[in-house]
Amino acid sequence: KTVFVLNGPNLNLLGQREPAVYGMHTLADVQQLCAAACARHGFALRFHQSNHEGALLDWIHEAGRMHASGELAGVVINAGAYTHTSIALHDATKGTGITLIELHISNVHAREPFRHHSHMAAAAKAVLCGFGVPGYGLAIDGLAQMQPPAA
Ligand code: DQA
Repeated sequence: KTVFVLNGPNLNLLGQREPAVYGMHTLADVQQLCAAACARHGFALRFHQSNHEGALLDWIHEAGRMHASGELAGVVINAGAYTHTSIALHDATKGTGITLIELHISNVHAREPFRHHSHMAAAAKAVLCGFGVPGYGLAIDGLAQMQPPAA
C-alpha cells in the first residue's frame, strides 16, 4: 500500500526557516526519514511539497482514488499555515474518506493563539505535533498500526 506525505507552504524552507522552532533538518532529510519509515513497513511512499493549496487538494483527491481501490495506507499531512485557514483541505479529506494524520513539527498549542485552531483536525484520524522532524516517522509507524490485518 501507499503512504502520501504532503507538505504545505514554506516547508520547502525547512532548515533555513526559524531553526529555533523547526530545527536544522531540510525537507530532503524529511523525505529520507519517511522513505526509511515506509521501507520498515513495506509501504510505497509518495512525498510532495507545495506552496499552493490547490496542488495539495489534487494530491488528496489522487490519494482518495487510491483509497477507493484499496491501494492507500493513508496520508500524513503537514499543511503548514493552511491548517489554520483551509476549509477546502478539510472538505477534501472528508469527501475522499481517506485516513489522514495531521502533523506539525512544532507544538502548535504552545505557540501563538492563531495556531491553536485547526480545520484539519476534525477530519483527521489522528493529530501529532511537537515531536520535531522525527514526528514524520512516528506518523508513518502509526499508520502501519492502523492497517487491517491481511486477509
Ligand atoms: C507547522 C505549524 C504551522 O502553524 C505553521 O504555519 C507551519 C508549520 C509545523 O510544522 O509546526 O508552517 O505546521
